[in-house]
Amino acid sequence: MTGLPYLTRLAFGFRAPKTPVPGMDLAGVVEAVGKDVSRFRPGDEVFGVGKGTFGEYALAREDKLAPKPANLTFEQAAVVAIFGLTALQGLRDHGRIEPGQEVLIVGASGGVGTFAVQIAKAFGGRVTGVCGAAKVEMVRSIGAYHVIDYTREDFAEGDPRYDLILDIGGSSSLSRLRRALAPKGTLVIVGGEGGGRWLGGSDRQLRAMMLSPFVGQKLLAFVSPENHEDMMALKELIESGKLAPVIDRTYPLSETPETIRYLESGHARGKVVITVPGQGA
Ligand SMILES: NC(=O)c1ccc[n+]([C@@H]2O[C@H](COP(=O)([O-])OP(=O)(O)OC[C@H]3O[C@@H](n4cnc5c(N)ncnc54)[C@H](OP(=O)(O)O)[C@@H]3O)[C@@H](O)[C@H]2O)c1
Repeated sequence: MTGLPYLTRLAFGFRAPKTPVPGMDLAGVVEAVGKDVSRFRPGDEVFGVGKGTFGEYALAREDKLAPKPANLTFEQAAVVAIFGLTALQGLRDHGRIEPGQEVLIVGASGGVGTFAVQIAKAFGGRVTGVCGAAKVEMVRSIGAYHVIDYTREDFAEGDPRYDLILDIGGSSSLSRLRRALAPKGTLVIVGGEGGGRWLGGSDRQLRAMMLSPFVGQKLLAFVSPENHEDMMALKELIESGKLAPVIDRTYPLSETPETIRYLESGHARGKVVITVPGQGA
C-alpha cells in the first residue's frame, strides 16, 4: 500500500499499483462466476484471496478460494487465507516440522504468529512464542507451552536449543537467530520490517539464503504462494478445532484508513477485520 520497499513493486506494479483498490484476503458469498469456473456457483460461501477486496465486490480466481469453514463467521474466515497459508507453508513445507521438535515462533502474537503457534502445536511441535508483555497470556492460551516477553528476556540467551525457528517479527539479526538454533536446526524467515527504501530489510533474508549452503543449519526465506489445496488444509484444521483465527478489532469499510493505521503500528493482537455491507469481510 505504501509502494515501499521498492523491491515489492516487482509484484505489485512499478509506477502505480496494478490493482487500484487494495485488499487481498476475503470471505463472502459468490455473486457470479466466469464460464470456465467449475468449483463454485453463485450463493456459495467462500474464503480466500482476491483482488481489490476492500470493497463490497471483489474478483478472485477459483484456485485461490475454498469453501468457508462451517464453524466460522465471515469476519473470522476473512483473515485466514494469506496469514494462515504463510504459517502453514513456513512450518510444514519449508520448516519440515516434526512431532516433538522444539519450535520457536518470533512474533507469536501478530497476524502470522497466532496462526503459526496453533499450527505448530497441531503438527506436534513444542512451541515457545516470543511477543510483547501485553500478549503473553493470549499466546499461551492458543497453545504455546512457554512464552518469552521480548522486552524482558532475550530468546537468544542460553544454549542453542530450537530445532525450528519461524522468524516473523522484530527483525532479529541473523547471528542472534542462529545462536538460538540447534546445530542442525532450520530457520525460516517469514518477514521483517525496517531497512532501506529499496530492500526494506529483505537483505537479511538474502544473506541467510547465501550463507545456508556453508553451515550446518538450514537458513531459508520464502514468499507464500496461494493455492486451493492448502486452503482446504486450513479449513480442515479449523473444522477439527485445532485452529481458530485470533481477531483483535473489526472496522466498517468506511473506516479502512484507521484499520490500516492500526495495523501499521505492528502491535495488533492477531488480525484486524474490515466488514462490508451485506455478507462478507
Ligand atoms: N513470507 C510471506 O509470504 C509473508 C506473508 C505474510 C506476511 N509476511 C510478513 O510477515 C511480517 C509479520 O506480519 P504480521 O502481520 O504477522 O505482523 P504483525 O501482526 O504486526 O505482528 C508482528 C509480531 O512481531 C512481534 N514483535 C514486534 N517487535 C518485536 C521484537 N522486537 N522482537 C520480537 N517480536 C516482536 C509483535 O509482538 P507484540 O505485538 O506483542 O509487540 C507481533 O507478534 C511482515 O513483515 C509481513 O510483511 C510475509
